[in-house]
This record gives sequence, structure tokens and C-alpha cells, in this order.
Amino acid sequence: MSDHQLYNEKIMDRFINPQNVGDIENPDAIAEVGAAACGDVLRITLKIDPDTHKVLDAKAKIFGCGTAISAADMAMSLIKGRTVEELENFSNDEVLDALGGAENWKANMPHKIHCSVLAESAIEEALKDYKLRKRKGIN
Ligand code: FES
Repeated sequence: MSDHQLYNEKIMDRFINPQNVGDIENPDAIAEVGAAACGDVLRITLKIDPDTHKVLDAKAKIFGCGTAISAADMAMSLIKGRTVEELENFSNDEVLDALGGAENWKANMPHKIHCSVLAESAIEEALKDYKLRKRKGIN
């Protein structure tokens, strides 16, 4: 079975109709991460409320495969409205659950799980960037 046949409707929908593509102007956090397994690259930008520390907007740009595009786009939707503190434990399992279920991915596409880890890593790096900017008084 090809990867295309394994992709469920949710993955395909996010791939064909992504909702969070692009770059935010004057972001409060930026992260760029790469997947060692395949060379794919993800850049995310976040707008964060300085008082509540809630993510107001999140965008992703990716040079990568279909599942990485879907996972990054879904991850951006999932983190909007959450505080930086709430995102400390954000895991790719949440992305997998929103895109058909972690068990389904583990059973049918274990070689694609790293695509969702890319999104998790980007969020982790963006939170570090946000905190660094705060410390340096950049935001
Ligand atoms: Fe590497 Fe999807 S195959 S990110």
C-alpha cells in the first residue's frame, strides 16, 4: 500500500486546505527546525499576547512531505488560544490524535511519525525563542 492510500481524510483535508500557512509580520516567536531523517524544514511564527501569554496566531511554512504539511498546519490550530505555560508539555501525540489517531499512525505509518515530531520540535523552539526575547526585552 502506498503512503497516499494510507492517508486518512483528516490528513488529506489539512494537506489540500491548510488553514495556517504563511509568516506572521513582527512575530513574538520564530522557530526553524529540520528533520534529520529526510531533510524537511519547518518554520513557524507566533503572535503572543504580552499580558495573558496566550498564542493569538500561529503560522507555518514548510518544505516537506504531505504529512508534515498536515501535521504542522494542525499543530498551529491546536496551539492557538493556549498560554505559553500550557504549551510546555505539548506533544506530537496530540497532533496524531487530531489527524486520525496515534494508534492508526503507529500501526500504518510508523515511518511518518517523525513528520509530526517536526511540529512538536518547532513549538518547543518557538517557546524558547519567546522566553529569550522576553528576557532581552525584544518583544
Ligand atoms: Fe520527513 Fe515527512 S518524510 S517530514
